[in-house]
Amino acid sequence: MNASLAPVVTLRTQASGDLDDAPSLASASSAAKKGLTTMTTQPFLKVEGLKRQFPQPGKPDPAPVFEELHFGIERGQFVCVLGHSGCGKTTILNILAGLDEATDGHVIMDGREVRGPSLDRGVVFQGHALMPWLSALKNVEFAVRSRHPDWSAKQVREHAVKYLELVHLGHALDKKPAELSGGMKQRVGIARAFSIEPKMLLLDEPFGALDALTRGSIQDELIGIVEATQQTVFMITHDVDEAILLADRIVLMTNGPRAKIAEIVVNPLARPRVRETLHQQPAFYTLRNHLVDFLVKRSREFQPGPDWDPKHPPLVHPGQASQSA
Ligand SMILES: Nc1ncnc2c1ncn2[C@@H]1O[C@H](COP(=O)(O)OP(=O)(O)OP(=O)(O)O)[C@@H](O)[C@H]1O
Ligand SMILES: [Mg+2]
Repeated sequence: MNASLAPVVTLRTQASGDLDDAPSLASASSAAKKGLTTMTTQPFLKVEGLKRQFPQPGKPDPAPVFEELHFGIERGQFVCVLGHSGCGKTTILNILAGLDEATDGHVIMDGREVRGPSLDRGVVFQGHALMPWLSALKNVEFAVRSRHPDWSAKQVREHAVKYLELVHLGHALDKKPAELSGGMKQRVGIARAFSIEPKMLLLDEPFGALDALTRGSIQDELIGIVEATQQTVFMITHDVDEAILLADRIVLMTNGPRAKIAEIVVNPLARPRVRETLHQQPAFYTLRNHLVDFLVKRSREFQPGPDWDPKHPPLVHPGQASQSA
């Protein structure tokens, strides 16, 4: 299992039409009632009415994995999605990457509709999918060359080395994937995704297979690179603590089938979030309990109330009584 860069395909885009309805995760109206916040500005990434269904063997009707998904991501924002296995997280990421097509709805990034894979979006999958016959350096160089076909070999190499050094792999440039540990392979995958300097990074549980220590150190590296590059990130995780450490907003998905966005949680812990001190802040536990409570209970029992509008999922600030969903 390998994390990989999305296939390199020329972007075919089309300016979007009516963009007025989708919510932004960052904007909050003070007029919101009961802590439910409506959002009005145009986000960098906008998901409108997304639905994906697959044919069911032996059944006449296809089954919607999820439907009516609406959310936005601001430029420079780090958004995590939390939800149980099978609720459609990877499917959403594949649609954002342009690797899969929605049954309904669309995705607009930077004012253009996503119609296929593009170097504008760097993808790191659950595993790493490095090319096994190429060294760490050559794997990254391959991506850089796709992005900059006009660059000289020297330019490509220098750029690739820069990103491998960022993930502390300057000493392992010539090693092939089989000679790298799991954590090192993930680092190469991250260096490769960052090296194309995409407008947005899409990460599908990139650290899921790593031990806690390695996971922690790569998370810290990711935080450092994201801070330095002001990258916009959409990341899937099962790990509540990872979401709290990394995300500015956490999208909570109900269990499938017909999964929905139950709410979008605002992380009250401001950047820069530092692992060593995060748990000393009172808001940490309030947030953590809120997320765990959702995963163990509310994700499967969710029933939309009369105020719940999929176009404007509740923007929740845990711990603030007036804003609970
Ligand atoms: N190509 C496909 N054909 C049919 N069903 C599919 C296809 N891709 C995904 N599904 C189904 O869609 C649902 C959501 O799959 P998806 O991989 O998006 O879930 P997930 O939330 O990422 O799960 P996990 O947390 O285990 O990675 C699953 O029930 C899966 O079986
Ligand atoms: Mg998945």
